[in-house]
Amino acid sequence: MCGIVAYIGAEKAGPVLLDTLKRLEYRGYDSAGIALASNGSMEVLKAAGRISDLEIIYRSRGEPEGSIGIGHTRWATHGRPSDENAHPHTSGSIAVVHNGIIENYLELREQLRDKGYVFTSETDSEVLAHLINYHYSGETNGDLAVSVSRALKDVRGSYAIVVMASGIPYLVCARKDSPLVIGIGGSSNYIASDVPALLPYTRDVIRLRDGEIAVVHRDKIEIMDISGAVREPAVERITWDADAAERGGYPHFMLKEIHEQPRAVQETLAGRISEMEGDVRLDLGLNQWEIQTLQRVSILACGTSYHAGLLARYFFPRTAGLPVDVEVASEFQHMQLRPGTLLVAISQSGETADTLMALKKAKTCGVKSLAITNVVGSSITEIVDATIYTRCGPEIGVAATKTFVGQLVALFLLGIRLGRARNHLLPEQGRRLLGELSRLPGLIQAVLERRDQIREIAQRFSGADIYFFIGRDILYPIALEGALKMKEIAYIPAEGYPAGELKHGPLALITEGTPVVAFATCGEKIYSNMKEVRARGGEVIAFAAEGDREAAEITDTVVELPNTLPVFSAVLCTVGAQLLAYYTAQILGRDIDKPRNLAKSVTVE
Ligand code: F6R
Repeated sequence: MCGIVAYIGAEKAGPVLLDTLKRLEYRGYDSAGIALASNGSMEVLKAAGRISDLEIIYRSRGEPEGSIGIGHTRWATHGRPSDENAHPHTSGSIAVVHNGIIENYLELREQLRDKGYVFTSETDSEVLAHLINYHYSGETNGDLAVSVSRALKDVRGSYAIVVMASGIPYLVCARKDSPLVIGIGGSSNYIASDVPALLPYTRDVIRLRDGEIAVVHRDKIEIMDISGAVREPAVERITWDADAAERGGYPHFMLKEIHEQPRAVQETLAGRISEMEGDVRLDLGLNQWEIQTLQRVSILACGTSYHAGLLARYFFPRTAGLPVDVEVASEFQHMQLRPGTLLVAISQSGETADTLMALKKAKTCGVKSLAITNVVGSSITEIVDATIYTRCGPEIGVAATKTFVGQLVALFLLGIRLGRARNHLLPEQGRRLLGELSRLPGLIQAVLERRDQIREIAQRFSGADIYFFIGRDILYPIALEGALKMKEIAYIPAEGYPAGELKHGPLALITEGTPVVAFATCGEKIYSNMKEVRARGGEVIAFAAEGDREAAEITDTVVELPNTLPVFSAVLCTVGAQLLAYYTAQILGRDIDKPRNLAKSVTVE
């Protein structure tokens, strides 16, 4: 996730761009840049680091003139944070800022190199600048809007872009699957990834729709759809305050991040599925022989990331025929690692001290290592042989939500890749799994739409002294994760158990009205455990597949989840559990985004 901004109007663009970028820093902040146009020329300033670093450069250059400009704050997905990889990217007289992922950038880069374009960054975004320049300096006769529209026809992936060209008195912006809003001022217009950036300047905005292109002048805005047909802009008046706007109108970042999960999954999958082969495109830092001769996978992680690792323990043996052991990083004993082991470290921040220390210890056994993280260039990526990035955008709420789901998706992709490379999974089996995986964003959306029902359940049990979460098989890790979420943000003691284990002890704690959340989308055995709870007066809250009559006979409290393969239902159960914990914490008036005693990134052992 990155943030983009643009300004065209009567004032000096530099200060407006820097101010609006600061208001988007929550979307990412590893590098930033602006381009300013004045008197037929263009000045581009970039800096690795925060917007304040860019501001220092802007001042040291004598605060360049220009009343047209574009800006970008970056959250790296391709290429590490650096001056070269910072946006805007330029080509001839064109400058572009981009938020999104260009899936076919490698292919486009080769074609453009053949045409003589020279690339100076490792990003996917730079292809946009050269591609637009190719059309702009070619057959479109310098028509910037037509050049952008032609260029975008060749692009696969997601984008929100703003393009400027020196000597051209307007901006062109476009979007597909990444957000973009245009703010309408009196004699100035603004563009940004999100509303909060614009609020000090205007409360009248136009939300660009997917596939649309807008030509933004200082005093007029023209919007066209994909076929070139002009659309009458619908202006929306924003009534939220600036604080709420940063949270996208949600009361907490956690709720916003829960709702961002369809998008996070889409991004994590983008460009990685090879439908024809039923395979996954991932660089694992291993050759074919190394994958085929792997003996086992050892996973190290903490907290929520550890729960993601546990899910792989069920998935990888089935897809890849590989046994998996998962260790809480702070308890890791390095003698266990044998040759033929692939070491996988999972950490959303990439900075957790326990995970980094365990990883370093494990590396001394001489095994190959892989990281799964959300932060490009984080410390973990320096230690391992290869990294799979979850592309969820920055997570601000302390409780991990979208990054956990991103980790699950990354592990699904890894399990399928290993399985295909080891011939454990046939192409049609890979295709079936990947086809279903691609449906996940829509299915998650359907679970989010059950929020009112989940809120009512949270209300009913908000006075509980203890919560239980139970699941079997692939849903056992989700029971642990559901309990962790309830503990950390609602401060209600909660136990996550394999459903079959209840009768071996914890059942003694179930009394009249004790809430027991049962994840019931993976096999029938859990029904008898749900009945055991009911027989002791406990209340079962079941997350079950649509139309599951058996679950409905056991309990009145069933949250129906869309049908999918049991393994992917783990993600849907997760979303349900997140909402349950969130609403419980909200009802209890907890400090949801900053729960007591916890930190987002734990950098001490
Ligand atoms: C819980 C949570 C923590 C983290 C743990 C590891 O919601 O966020 O349990 O999962 O501190 O953090 P990372 O994944 O950054 O290594």
